[in-house]
Amino acid sequence: MRPNTVPRMIAALAAVSLVAACSGENGTGDGSTEGYPDQNITIVVPFSAGGPTDTVTRMIAEPMAAALGGKIVVQNVEGAGGTVAAGQVATARPDGYTVLMHHIGMSTAPALYKDLGFQPLEDFATVGLVTEVPMTVVARTGLAPATLADLTAYVKANAGTVTLANAGIGAASHLCGLLFQVAAGVKLQEVPYQGTGPALTDLVGGQVDFMCDQTTNTTGQITAGKVKAYAVTTPERVKSLPDVPTTTEAGMPQLQVSVWHGLYVPAGTPPEVVRKLSGALATALADPAVIDQMAKLGTAPVVAADATPEAHRAHLQEQITTWAKVIADAGVQAS
Ligand code: MLT
Repeated sequence: MRPNTVPRMIAALAAVSLVAACSGENGTGDGSTEGYPDQNITIVVPFSAGGPTDTVTRMIAEPMAAALGGKIVVQNVEGAGGTVAAGQVATARPDGYTVLMHHIGMSTAPALYKDLGFQPLEDFATVGLVTEVPMTVVARTGLAPATLADLTAYVKANAGTVTLANAGIGAASHLCGLLFQVAAGVKLQEVPYQGTGPALTDLVGGQVDFMCDQTTNTTGQITAGKVKAYAVTTPERVKSLPDVPTTTEAGMPQLQVSVWHGLYVPAGTPPEVVRKLSGALATALADPAVIDQMAKLGTAPVVAADATPEAHRAHLQEQITTWAKVIADAGVQAS
């Protein structure tokens, strides 16, 4: 992962789909870990189908399933900025058949939610990091401001009416929007969705004014001219969006966000099962088709050393500490 110099900005079952089907030839059916997997593995996505977390999950699900010699099902469990799904997986059977894909929100939830109901470091075993996705500041095409500086002035002058979409408290879009507001010195009306998939649909339709969202969701709409892009929230420009300036170039260097993702299983999952999942993740991330799909959407797999339980746990630990301070300073808490 890139070094963390500036703080990185940063229930309902909604959809179930079979994304991969390979022969389960090594299954024993006797419950031993040797035969793992001998039934479907479910990867739970904590936001809407079609959004950025879902997109990344579906990219890796099929090559992971092939590496494991099993089947992977992706299930979207929406709600409360990703915490509904995390709470559900925390109490699932620790047998390697329920896996959570989550992002930076796993590290911010303990500071944002008083009664979270789970503890990221105690209730989960980390499998490995997946990718770190840049964010974009995007608006409906009809919004007047032309640049990020213009947008800042505009929202300050129209704070009572401008709407900022996000995917709930603790979502990456929420964190990025929060840092935007801190940087701009303004408090805006926020419109929460179950994921930025539906939020972006409303942005394209002009129902909300602007938002932060990951390039894995916004690239297609930006290049098609369906939304206006003001900036990318990374130190360098994103290759797939060469004309979009960085927040530093656009005059808001405080707004630095990239959204790291990782896979988790419930604590107590047998270490050899975690190792198998981690190995399958590394294989998926080395797949040229995955690398290509990610590049088209402005991101890349983590390096192999980060797709491990140890690197993932260390990163989670560091991010929980970092975000606790940022969130306390911002005085934000879910009610
Ligand atoms: C999603 O998948 O909808 C996003 O990751 C939401 C977010 O965190 O902003």
